[in-house]
Amino acid sequence: MPIEVVTLAQRPDLEEQVEQLHEDTWDKFLEGAPWDHWETLFDTFADYQILLCEPSDVLIGLGHTVPFDWNGTTEDLPPLLDELIKRALDGRRDGRAPAALAALAAVVPEAHQKRGLSSQILEAMRAMALKHQLHSVVVPVGPTFKHLYPITPMERYVQWKRDDGAPFDPWIRLHAKLGAEMLGVAPTTAISTGTVAQWEEWTGMKFPESGDYIVPGALQPVTIDRERDLGRYEDPGVWMLHRISGA
Ligand SMILES: CC(C)(COP(=O)(O)OP(=O)(O)OC[C@H]1O[C@@H](n2cnc3c(N)ncnc32)[C@H](O)[C@@H]1OP(=O)(O)O)[C@@H](O)C(=O)NCCC(=O)NCCS
Repeated sequence: MPIEVVTLAQRPDLEEQVEQLHEDTWDKFLEGAPWDHWETLFDTFADYQILLCEPSDVLIGLGHTVPFDWNGTTEDLPPLLDELIKRALDGRRDGRAPAALAALAAVVPEAHQKRGLSSQILEAMRAMALKHQLHSVVVPVGPTFKHLYPITPMERYVQWKRDDGAPFDPWIRLHAKLGAEMLGVAPTTAISTGTVAQWEEWTGMKFPESGDYIVPGALQPVTIDRERDLGRYEDPGVWMLHRISGA
């Protein structure tokens, strides 16, 4: 059965499946981060949301992107994903021509993982950038094995290599295989905060005293402050750049 690649603007009927896939994928504790502008992916930026379907009414992969104004330097990249979407919105409102495409997330449902679908999503993102004459696709990559090494600083983890010299992390490796270069660590793509009770609910753990905790799924420890009744987690990533030739 051929895989169809469409946008959410072309197939608004798939929105419920998109929402469901997010619900099934992300750790509950990310709910404590600000996602004030996320909903605009579903209307203002619907034509930048890539969907893979097989057959045509079943979602088997998605890629969220927004076009934004970026001068090409690491310093000019907004630290939070939500700020990045806001920059894209502000640029559109002010009539500024976007320069690059930001890839916010790629998701493949568990049942369809390890089929190479994520390469198709990344290729579709690159094709989207070329179509809109954007010079690059910049991605705050969330390394998929980092949660297994939560006490290793991201700066060190991203340098790990396999014996064949390829990046250790499968998701970083795929971007590198497609020609992306690493720009540097993104220390806080999202900052999740909540009360201790919320953190206990999100994680199913107890946090009897203040301190740093290793939480399943988190890429680095979560800090609990019982006196202030506050838990805080910074979700790190690594910026990777796909240059688009011909744009
Ligand atoms: C990351 C993700 C999109 C990869 O999708 P995918 O279609 O399964 O990936 P592919 O089949 O193209 O494989 C890409 C690489 O990842 C590896 N891989 C994919 N899923 C894996 C898994 N569950 N466990 C171990 N390795 C995995 C593949 O072996 C391949 O590596 P290699 O060919 O260099 O050995 C998918 O796992 C996912 O949706 N994860 C949850 C959301 C997420 O973390 N997204 C990325 C951050 S935004």
